[in-house]
Amino acid sequence: MNSLSSSTIHHAVGKLGSGPLTEAQLSQHVWPLFSRVLQRSRIAPTPPVMREPEIYLANHSLGRPLDQMALDVHEALDLWFEHLDGAWSHPRGWLAASCYFREQVAALLGASSYQSIVPKSSAGQGLRAVLNSLSDQGHVPTVVATRGEFDSCDVILKTYAQKGRAKVRWIEPDYRAPIEFYSVKSLKAALDQHVDLVLCSQVLFATGQVLDDIPELVKSAHQVGAKVIVDTYHSFGVLPLEWEGMGRYGLGGADFLIGGSYKYARGGPGACWLAIHPRHLESNQTPSRLTTLDTGWFAKEQPFAYLRPDPPIMAAGGDAWLESTPPVLTAYQANSGLQLLRELGVDRLREYNLQQQQSLCAMMRLLGIAMYEPKDWESRGAFALLPHPQAAELSQRLLQHGLNTDARNGSVRFGPDLLTTQAELEKATEIVRQVL
Ligand SMILES: Cc1ncc(COP(=O)(O)O)c(C=O)c1O
Repeated sequence: MNSLSSSTIHHAVGKLGSGPLTEAQLSQHVWPLFSRVLQRSRIAPTPPVMREPEIYLANHSLGRPLDQMALDVHEALDLWFEHLDGAWSHPRGWLAASCYFREQVAALLGASSYQSIVPKSSAGQGLRAVLNSLSDQGHVPTVVATRGEFDSCDVILKTYAQKGRAKVRWIEPDYRAPIEFYSVKSLKAALDQHVDLVLCSQVLFATGQVLDDIPELVKSAHQVGAKVIVDTYHSFGVLPLEWEGMGRYGLGGADFLIGGSYKYARGGPGACWLAIHPRHLESNQTPSRLTTLDTGWFAKEQPFAYLRPDPPIMAAGGDAWLESTPPVLTAYQANSGLQLLRELGVDRLREYNLQQQQSLCAMMRLLGIAMYEPKDWESRGAFALLPHPQAAELSQRLLQHGLNTDARNGSVRFGPDLLTTQAELEKATEIVRQVL
């Protein structure tokens, strides 16, 4: 255990043993770690605000925080009050917490060093840093991207194209019904020696589709000299992904990964990261080492020496991709959720989540509600889908009945998590039936 990890979380998870997760065990040992957020959903507020306890199935959007998160942020602030600028170098201080954040993300990605992980305040910021590493001497990079990327990446690529900073080849879905489906085959068909970068999501945000064969894509991209950036926002903490892996959830040693803690890692907004493959970082002398325009004084070799050579001497490894004075509270926001993921194990969480999704779909089916039910559940992310012509309105009406979901591209998304009870799933099914 790292000295910054929480012994409360460690002991609670330890009591679960090593078998599959069950609601009985989670309720006894893990739910107490969430006492604050559970008060909101399990206890109806007293009058005058009369409402039923809410069923929260938007965990795929904003994840629910541990009580420990608030304690950690409080500690970061206490350090500031007590130590002023000594808070940076304190053993439990701001630099240590940021390093622990990087270590935890690295561990979950199967990266060998925290140096590969560059903290960012959004996934989009990570994409921009990569785009800005490909435009040396006025080169305009060509990017291949699916139309299914999240709005943040979509608007960034469109803006770069509009300003003449990138050429984008958009990949349309292979088919659109019953839900949109993208394939690595179509991405590969767009590759040639002009392509600099390929962007794809491992799990598509609107549909929950797992994009298979990413290692194959990486191999083909490398053959034409292109790099690959994978958006793992909906797979990090959901799939037992492996950065170097060649299997179903392997990322084939992709050049870059982006992701963040807003959803499954329970760390709220701002705790995001860009992961850079070590082959691009080897040392500050390696000519093939990638550098980016998105820089600042924390990326220098010795920021606190205040030396100003021209050209600047950058730090070794991923530190060369740091920027200016970084946010620090985000690391404190994120560390408890990352620890919980690591201690529970993404494999076990995945199995539990798929059981919940299947149970929800089966109950809906019995009531004649046509959820999207895949033949292969392993091809799904962490939320179930109800395709509906007025999905956004339907989601709003469900909320009025105490069921919190959301809607994207013609489907309502239902995302259970380890705090969701079987009784809530039953009640959710009943609410959907009533509202429909
Ligand atoms: C696939 C995916 N990528 C990225 C993001 C967030 O992007 P950013 O951090 O740039 O706001 C989301 C948020 O929902 C997402 O679903």
